[in-house]
Amino acid sequence: MKSIYNSNWIEPGYDLGDKVCVFSKKFDLNGTVSRAELQITSFGVYEAHINGKRVGDFILAPGWTNYRKRLQFQTYDIAELIGSNNEISVSVGRGWLMHYKDDLSAALIASVEIYYDNGEKEIIYTDDSWTVGLSKIQYSNIYNGDIYDASFVDESPCFATIKDMDKKMLIEQQGEKIVEVEKLPVKKIFSTPQGDICIDFGQNMTGYVEFNICGKKGEQAVIYHAETLDADGNFYTANLRSAKQEIRFICDGRLHTYKPIHSFQGFRYIKLENWSDEIKAENFKAIVVHSDIKRTGYFECSDELVNKLYSNIIWGQRGNFLDVPTDCPQRDERLGWTGDAQVFIRTAALNFDVNKFFEKWLSDLSSCQNADGGVPHVIPDLQWRDDSSSGWADAAVICPWQLYLTYGNKKVLARQFDSMCKWVNYIKNHSNNYLWDTGKHFADWLCLDENDSSKKHATPVELISTAFFAYSTSLLIKSGNVLGIDMSEYEALLSNIRQAYRKAFIDKYGRVNCNTQTGCALTIYFNLSPDKQAAAKQLNSLVKECGHLKTGFLGTPYLLHALSENGYAQTAYDLLLRREYPSWLYSVTMGATTIWEHWDSLKPDGTMWSTGMNSFNHYAYGAVGDWIFSVAAGINIDEASPGFRHIIFKPATDSRLSFVKAGILTKYGEVKSSWRKEGRLIEYSFTVPHPCTATVYVGGEAKIVSGGTYKFKEEI
Ligand code: BGC
Repeated sequence: MKSIYNSNWIEPGYDLGDKVCVFSKKFDLNGTVSRAELQITSFGVYEAHINGKRVGDFILAPGWTNYRKRLQFQTYDIAELIGSNNEISVSVGRGWLMHYKDDLSAALIASVEIYYDNGEKEIIYTDDSWTVGLSKIQYSNIYNGDIYDASFVDESPCFATIKDMDKKMLIEQQGEKIVEVEKLPVKKIFSTPQGDICIDFGQNMTGYVEFNICGKKGEQAVIYHAETLDADGNFYTANLRSAKQEIRFICDGRLHTYKPIHSFQGFRYIKLENWSDEIKAENFKAIVVHSDIKRTGYFECSDELVNKLYSNIIWGQRGNFLDVPTDCPQRDERLGWTGDAQVFIRTAALNFDVNKFFEKWLSDLSSCQNADGGVPHVIPDLQWRDDSSSGWADAAVICPWQLYLTYGNKKVLARQFDSMCKWVNYIKNHSNNYLWDTGKHFADWLCLDENDSSKKHATPVELISTAFFAYSTSLLIKSGNVLGIDMSEYEALLSNIRQAYRKAFIDKYGRVNCNTQTGCALTIYFNLSPDKQAAAKQLNSLVKECGHLKTGFLGTPYLLHALSENGYAQTAYDLLLRREYPSWLYSVTMGATTIWEHWDSLKPDGTMWSTGMNSFNHYAYGAVGDWIFSVAAGINIDEASPGFRHIIFKPATDSRLSFVKAGILTKYGEVKSSWRKEGRLIEYSFTVPHPCTATVYVGGEAKIVSGGTYKFKEEI
């Protein structure tokens, strides 16, 4: 057993609130060290130093899990950092603990294991011989930012108090650490019409600003963060709601380099106030921070706006994969909304290797699941005690299945299987005659069915809920089959749900009776109409009639697939390539550098959708990335041989694009697909990593190939 389990929880002995404290301990070594290890974690977020040097590079450690049951500890090799006389100091701020009201408070637990050359071993535990004092960071809050006083020194640190608390929740690091990934230089320094001095970093992002400051002693310099400017070009923070996102630096007249260590911001622009130093670009850098996920997917085509859309999808993911898949990184939310995560996971898993990231989040999901199988809206759970929502709670089934498809991860299916069953059983227990017609749901959130920019929806909630009931049950059956479990009970359930669905929502011609894009897309993609072609024809007409999409969070991911899989690829391309509102490219033409929460977060006249709920960094609509890879570039996973062991290449070309190329780094090597128009010919190229096989669909024929690169030509 790891020695941290024998250590003690220690706390400051007073309510820390949003203050930051520093725990310290001096220790000497009695010989030559062969190995030294620090095991550590905290309630709150910590940053550890030994002899003034940073331990590891995990930002906002220990990350965010279901703290009541699961708290990750980290293990660091510290042999290089220690000598004969040492001091370890650990700064602890509140971090995500702010969501836990009064039931959890800031605390630290650690053990330093030292192995000497002579075979002896020494362990230093956190206990009441550690001291604790207040940090120069006088205030730190994830939503609000920091107050740092450069001249503050705590003259009277005291001894830490041992906290009587069990260690059952301690688990080894399961997810990815959060790291600094990139530093963006200043793009522009400018004054707004209101006279504010602002800096543009050119990219909406998540992280913080590192800056050099001298200032005058006692002066409080402030940095405000914003995602966008308003219609008049002024600094705009109304969409942050109560989140302040400010860094207040109280100067001591000496030069400092500062960056937050216990908070982060969502921003592209900063505004400087009380800045007596000359404002020079080289004194400011924006540091991009996210989970240490490896980029795997690349895409490029002949349309620069589509390329920018793809870049915005990537930035949307980078901005919201901060240990937990969050809805947004800027306003007073930044939560692990289940719906957003399930909507985006297919795209997310192509862009980056998110296997470990989601394994950890899914472990939190099952640990937060209610006894009746209900799944909270956000994971980690904030104990809101609401009904579980269709399309949101279904993340319990959709996400593990996606990790199986993209990465061939069978273990995660086995680990989550109970949770998946519990979720489907929950729906069964809340449905009447196989129709899920109870509870409160977010439905097709932010769709455009009834009137523009409305949260209302014309697709009946019961249709959406029952469609997801069927879909989750079908994925559960597939998962059970992979695991060799008898699923006949769920097969019977699925057949009953389908029948009930057809009776309630499909007319005698196989058409969806609510006549909405989302109604059709879900029916088609979830295989719920007895006549898929009839529903697809209906969907195609609906899109053609109004000329644009009307779908919200739940319909959007399936809309283009439902069209292109049934002979309407051209209509799907019409939607993808449309530039006017509402469309994916509209935000690009408006200068977006990330994906917006609403189709019109920023309206054509530069005004805002609203102040209340208007994020400029919300990945949900970026779910189209999956269609871009699987249809435009034609790279598909074969369910029967997942993880790209067998690949299905089936690109759909379009006359408005002259080339498309994409690559996905899989565990077997890089899968590549491209096509290019040369006069009346289309030239295709497909690369299959060596242990893999593929089926290539070109010119109406299917060919089976093994590892290698293959070129084909087709006449238009
Ligand atoms: C979040 C969403 C989330 C929704 C629930 C919002 O406040 O930002 O993305 O899914 O609430 O409908």
